[in-house]
Amino acid sequence: MSKKDDFSSLNISKETTARLQEQYPTIMALATTPPEEVVRRCEISSTSAARAVNQARKLIGMAEPITAAELFERKLAKPRITTSSQQLDEILGGGITVGAITEFSGAFATGKTQLAFQLCINVQQPQEMGGLDGKALFIDTENTFAPSRVAEMSYSFTDDPKAFLQNIYVSRAYNADHQIQIVEKADKIIQKNNVRLVIVDSMASHFRAEFPGKDNLPRRQQMLMAHAETLQRLTESYELAVYTTNQILSNPDSIFTGTSSLEPALGFAWGHRPTHRILLRKSRGTTRIARIFDSPELAEREAVFHITPQGIRDGPPLDY
Ligand SMILES: Nc1ncnc2c1ncn2[C@@H]1O[C@H](COP(=O)(O)OP(=O)(O)OP(=O)(O)O)[C@@H](O)[C@H]1O
Ligand SMILES: [Mg+2]
Repeated sequence: MSKKDDFSSLNISKETTARLQEQYPTIMALATTPPEEVVRRCEISSTSAARAVNQARKLIGMAEPITAAELFERKLAKPRITTSSQQLDEILGGGITVGAITEFSGAFATGKTQLAFQLCINVQQPQEMGGLDGKALFIDTENTFAPSRVAEMSYSFTDDPKAFLQNIYVSRAYNADHQIQIVEKADKIIQKNNVRLVIVDSMASHFRAEFPGKDNLPRRQQMLMAHAETLQRLTESYELAVYTTNQILSNPDSIFTGTSSLEPALGFAWGHRPTHRILLRKSRGTTRIARIFDSPELAEREAVFHITPQGIRDGPPLDY
């Protein structure tokens, strides 16, 4: 155990330590959590929570800024998960990255779930094959997780799909509150099993169904923002990638101006949270087009890929 994961180096009582470790298995997880959440989850006083979080932050070295050069090095070192399409990987800067939330939006059958399945397999590969040697946690809000389809995709790598299926934890989320709870309680399973990819497919369905209309908007926004914060904390605490999917809707304002456009659902509260946002659209047959439209470091580019029986694969060049 590294000093950074040694709770005994925090100057707090044994009982409080036990409660903290129950919820936050690493110092990093504790250090990146808002103290109010620690109070709620660990049922300890706000003074104890603030003290524990502050000490954890110090131990991790979060109290001091780092140089941009060091940040650059750290970002370069961040591993990525291949999508199994070179073109798609290229516009993503090498694949789906850890330490970030990557969102794919699109109409039905554009490939959002297929890509999620592919990533669940690919994350298990060794790093030289575009994986992270880790496992996946799939939070299924639409009841569309299909083990048979994951097995079909895995035949490109193995004769024994069970070996891959065993490394994918599936949590069916029945409503928005349940979805939030699954993510909040994910620390232990992630840490214990080396989960390096968390999928939420989809972010939108429960929130849109349970909080319709303007009256419900403030509550929905508030819940979504807290949910996003927890997901972001997981990416940084456990060096894992978060892949979320989102539905799309027509922007009614632009219909009036005659420029009707399709955009991801869930509005601003969620919209600012994913680090990279990608929009998928259908083309002919099995062809799909991905366009990055919002990222602090990736250009607005398009990639073509195919959904094949074997999984996600490269498409022909854009000017075919
Ligand atoms: N076994 C398979 N072999 C080839 N293509 C498949 C296979 N299974 C599904 N597909 C294709 O995948 C597409 C569906 O993609 P996917 O399920 O990822 O859609 P989605 O974007 O998640 O849609 P939704 O919004 O409805 O969830 C369909 O075009 C379907 O033909
Ligand atoms: Mg889907």
